[in-house]
Amino acid sequence: MPTVASTALRVPQSRIRELADIAMRMDDVLKLYFGESNIPTPEYIKRAATKALEEGYTFYTENAGLPGLRQDLAGYYRRVHDVDLDPRSEIVVTASGVQALNVTIRCVLNPGDEALVLTPAWPNSAANIWMDNATPTEVPLLLHGDRYAVDFDSLEAAVTPRTRLLVYTSPSNPLGWVATENEQEELLEFARRYNLWLLADEVYERLYYRGATMSDPAPSILRKASRDDAVIVAQSFSKTYCMTGWRIGWLVARRDVGEKAAQLNEFIISHPASFIQRAAQAALAQGEEELRRMLARLGENRDFCLAALRRIPGVTVPSPDGAFYLFPKIEGLTDSFTFCRKLLEETHVGVAPGVAFGAGGEGSIRICYAAEQGILEQAMERLADFLSRNLA
Ligand SMILES: Cc1ncc(COP(=O)(O)O)c(C=O)c1O
Repeated sequence: MPTVASTALRVPQSRIRELADIAMRMDDVLKLYFGESNIPTPEYIKRAATKALEEGYTFYTENAGLPGLRQDLAGYYRRVHDVDLDPRSEIVVTASGVQALNVTIRCVLNPGDEALVLTPAWPNSAANIWMDNATPTEVPLLLHGDRYAVDFDSLEAAVTPRTRLLVYTSPSNPLGWVATENEQEELLEFARRYNLWLLADEVYERLYYRGATMSDPAPSILRKASRDDAVIVAQSFSKTYCMTGWRIGWLVARRDVGEKAAQLNEFIISHPASFIQRAAQAALAQGEEELRRMLARLGENRDFCLAALRRIPGVTVPSPDGAFYLFPKIEGLTDSFTFCRKLLEETHVGVAPGVAFGAGGEGSIRICYAAEQGILEQAMERLADFLSRNLA
């Protein structure tokens, strides 16, 4: 009897999805477990997709994506980060951020290689490393006061002769941590010193609260790297433009990886849907105003949830600088999955268990605050009540 390959079996299940699967079988759940806002995709993006269908964008495109979209992405980097990219070789359009992670990790790891992953982190990059028959080594960020920082001593200690890649996410899911420019420089130096690929997941770069003006992006590693550096950025339209279900993203990489990723995409997805690529062009061209409105709303939600959580005895919440998550630590919590399941079943509040985010995550829960304030108010109230009954 043929069996599923052992290399597939060793890819762990996402524990966020495991909890979501329970929640999806229930009614009236306050859904704060997934990383998406409940704002529908803006009308101008939907109209652009419909128009593209009418105009005949129903055929195959280049593996790297429509040249026009890649040019617009190069324009975006010039405008937003003052970085020059070659749209023909350094930018590849992908069918989502996770697909950008998938194809780039496939391009840089051989079976048996090792990759360092800064955690707590969204589990999909580690899972993609497993999928390539390589092994992730998790290196937790350290909490100093109410801010996280990269633990360079532990990174040094974790490098082996098989290490080929270092992955980090900034702004971070689930922490909201944003790598400082200093940390980015040190990460780049570290990668250069040990001959590693440096993969930065920057899908939350526009959800940043510490810029000089609203909607300033979080600093990108591309501002520090030269085009010869072994640097890759994974990106997505999902979070910035409320397009999670559309499945469209992009990657930026050194030319050799950019070209190889485009070629491999032929065998994975060929390319993202043609008319969705046109809608993505509209998002880049017209998205700034809606983005500012969303950021104002997210900032209010974050402040509301932070204040509510900080009033609960036994709960400490590091201050986030970006993304749309809070990662409160709950005193005495040792099994966050059981805690979240019980919270869900008894109160219909759905949050993600900290254990899902790897080393450093257990003992916390992740709350996505990109919901309506009314939902957040009820959720915070029920959580406080649940904690007073369960951890007193
Ligand atoms: C850190 C991080 N990277 C990448 C993604 C992928 O987003 P998508 O695949 O929807 O583009 C997510 C989604 O939650 C994420 O949190």
